Amino acid sequence: MTDIESFIRGLPKTDLHMHIEGSIEPQLMLDLAARNGMKLRWDTAEALRGAYQFDNLQSFLDLYFEGCKVLVTEGDFRDVTRAYLRRAHEDGVVRAELFIGPQSFIERGTPLEALMSGVLGAMQEARREHGLSVGLMISVHRHRTEADAMVMLDQIMPWKDQIIAIGMGGAEIGNPPAKFARFFKAARDRGFRTTVHAGEEGPAAYVREALDLLQVDRIDHGNACLADPDLVRELAMRRIPLTVCPLSNLRLQGVTEMARHPLKTMMAQGLHVTVNSDDPPYFGGYVTENLLACRDALDLSLQEIVRLVRNGLEAAFVTTEEREMLLGQLDDYLARHAGASMS
Ligand code: HPA
Ligand code: ZN
Repeated sequence: MTDIESFIRGLPKTDLHMHIEGSIEPQLMLDLAARNGMKLRWDTAEALRGAYQFDNLQSFLDLYFEGCKVLVTEGDFRDVTRAYLRRAHEDGVVRAELFIGPQSFIERGTPLEALMSGVLGAMQEARREHGLSVGLMISVHRHRTEADAMVMLDQIMPWKDQIIAIGMGGAEIGNPPAKFARFFKAARDRGFRTTVHAGEEGPAAYVREALDLLQVDRIDHGNACLADPDLVRELAMRRIPLTVCPLSNLRLQGVTEMARHPLKTMMAQGLHVTVNSDDPPYFGGYVTENLLACRDALDLSLQEIVRLVRNGLEAAFVTTEEREMLLGQLDDYLARHAGASMS
């Protein structure tokens, strides 16, 4: 590992946009399938990893939902969450905010209690064992109906105090934010913070709808906003965080090569961008790999990398006291590495 690599890996970072069910490493997927008496289309981890080649968001979602089938029991949800949190900790992540989308699991017969107990149990263990700060976000599927989302909202109320936000993912084009205006209002009325995937494959108009109609606190991805200068100005002025996922954008053909990724332009326009992993095994990396890929392709300075990391800490759904503590950790790290790192 080069000095720069270990400096970036050691930075106290956030991962604010990742999906638990998209974090199953290939070997764990095979193990979980075997445990649940299922046969996958692939026999080895290498063969499975080789299948991670996508033309667009939908081709990824097809494989992602196929992979979701191996998660059945409380123990499965505990194991996958535990594995991700261990990797994140090793990657220098100090604050992780995790999405899970319960709808497809409930539909296949897993009780919500089992899913929540597995995920929350692993989160508690990571707090204890790694000192990691971690929060859970419940994500609904935009390719389902708003009525389905409302049912989900009712079902999760017993865990309200253990859920930091409500989000939405899935097939974007044809499922604009406007379709879920009443759902997001209901989530806000019940006291939840909100965030939504917008402008990943969809147009700037979807980011505008997310802001005006859903009134979200953060936008997941948001890349397409660049096509609308007024929107960029408003996002920047209101410091709405955008949880950008560069390797995800590359692997889903949102950009043809990393050198064309809009991250640096977004920063230059004053947007509050953060760098995140989305679905790490599918897209080839955790947060550090995302930062390194951007640094290499976009020639980011270390100051810019530190800015991205600081943006993540500032965008986290934590209390003011916790944010100050996390920012203090970053400042201590920078003070310890002064000179060597900031050239
Ligand atoms: N976009 C939409 N839905 C998703 C994603 C994503 O990047 N990852 C997991 N579900
Ligand atoms: Zn995502």
